[in-house]
Amino acid sequence: GSEDTTFSYRPLYHFTTDSNWINDPNGLVYANGQYHLFAQYNPYGDKWGHMSWAHAVSKDLFEWNQWPLAIPEIKNNDSTTIMIFSGSAVVDSFNTSGFGKDGQIPLVAIYTSHVDKNGKGLAQHESLAYSVDEGKTWQQYANNPVLDIHLTDFRDPKVFWYAPEKKWIMAVVRSLEYKVQFYASADLKKWNLLSEFGGVGNVDKIWECPDLFPITVEGSNEQKWVLSLSAGHPQKGFIAVQYFTGNFDGKKFTADKLDYPLYIDYGKDFYAGVTYNNIPASDGRRIMIGWANCWNYANDIPTKGFRGAYSVPRSLTLKQTAEGLRLFQLPAAELNNYEQDLYSETSVELNNTSKSLDSVKGTALDISFELKADAGATAGINVFKSGDEETTIAYTAATKTISLDRTKSGDTSFHKDFSSVETVHLNNADEKIKLRILIDKSMVEVFVNDGLYAITDLVFPKHSDGGIELFAKNGTAVFMNLDIKNVAKTIH
Ligand code: FRU
Repeated sequence: GSEDTTFSYRPLYHFTTDSNWINDPNGLVYANGQYHLFAQYNPYGDKWGHMSWAHAVSKDLFEWNQWPLAIPEIKNNDSTTIMIFSGSAVVDSFNTSGFGKDGQIPLVAIYTSHVDKNGKGLAQHESLAYSVDEGKTWQQYANNPVLDIHLTDFRDPKVFWYAPEKKWIMAVVRSLEYKVQFYASADLKKWNLLSEFGGVGNVDKIWECPDLFPITVEGSNEQKWVLSLSAGHPQKGFIAVQYFTGNFDGKKFTADKLDYPLYIDYGKDFYAGVTYNNIPASDGRRIMIGWANCWNYANDIPTKGFRGAYSVPRSLTLKQTAEGLRLFQLPAAELNNYEQDLYSETSVELNNTSKSLDSVKGTALDISFELKADAGATAGINVFKSGDEETTIAYTAATKTISLDRTKSGDTSFHKDFSSVETVHLNNADEKIKLRILIDKSMVEVFVNDGLYAITDLVFPKHSDGGIELFAKNGTAVFMNLDIKNVAKTIH
């Protein structure tokens, strides 16, 4: 394997902007047959700063067209700057805001206006920007902010239409107090406090990016609500997205009694995940996109020409399991349209050995298989394999753990927190483990047992060979229904 120093690490089928820095996905909204996606974006460079909303649209969640910058930061005369922090977007179908003229249906962005003076945050409040040309151009609302409770950490409004009472609901966090507040509005401009939820689950780190959405328990007619938000990681010192299941009556969220915290993703690189507004009922999916990065080292990752990528769009379902309700997630099915068969095998048995799939090379793949391992065995797959360089996804039968090991994945030296092994313990492990693994240049997303667990990590291989190897250690393992697809897609 030759060392390829020209690697940009730009994913092929995951969202990135043409250039510059991005963090959180913002304003995810489906409107007029298109998925809109906005991004926390620095128009001037590839590190965090000058936060503005970039904009892209897609018909299928995979082929994105980047549109002009939607909402730039605002320079005030008093040498303060208003940065456009995270938030959401809605289709104001009934023109409740009055921004639409002559039958126009406005798109309205509800974002955090972060007031900065020489790098110091002075205030955070919620503000509006709107478009009456289907998202092409955006204007600031003249009477911003629309919600100000005189805090410096009050952010990331998620607004959605609550049909039973024909009103808007906002979930927003008082970050430093680990609290989500819920507000209601008839016109997006005047907001009334309804209730608060907080202090439970993971409170290791500040709370950010809340979301609240209804979802039906699979196989039943029971409707539940999920409250998700970004906070601390199960492996302390890191960050992740946690969730609660429960009920929402239009005023108050009441959590089910489950063993919190529960996480959307157990990797190091899935944060600020939020879901789409306004996907038609005929589709019925609840789709989440997360920022595939981690604040500990986000500004230092060795990508070239861009910095920051999003997870694959994930379709969420809620299922009853032996341990209670759990969110499951799988890549949005539109991904299949970009895949070609590369390799398949119904059964491979390995006893204390490894098998390199010499005919399979690739750095943008969708790999799935089932695995049965002896009581003493550890078995799995190495991806981005070249000599000693490898990223390892393994199942250890004795401890019933799935691990994603990036300690030998390539460049790990750019930050002390990067080299790591992620693990998930399967409480009710069946005999057979099901794995689906997406790899894409610098991203690895592992979906365990139909998406009961997800593990997302960045990797930066130094070699471009993209070798694949199955292995079984300390015993025998059988790989069943191995199916490897190539994902062929050039976004840029
Ligand atoms: C989360 C976050 C948000 C904030 C944004 C600023 O990653 O810290 O809370 O609005 O990033 O870029």
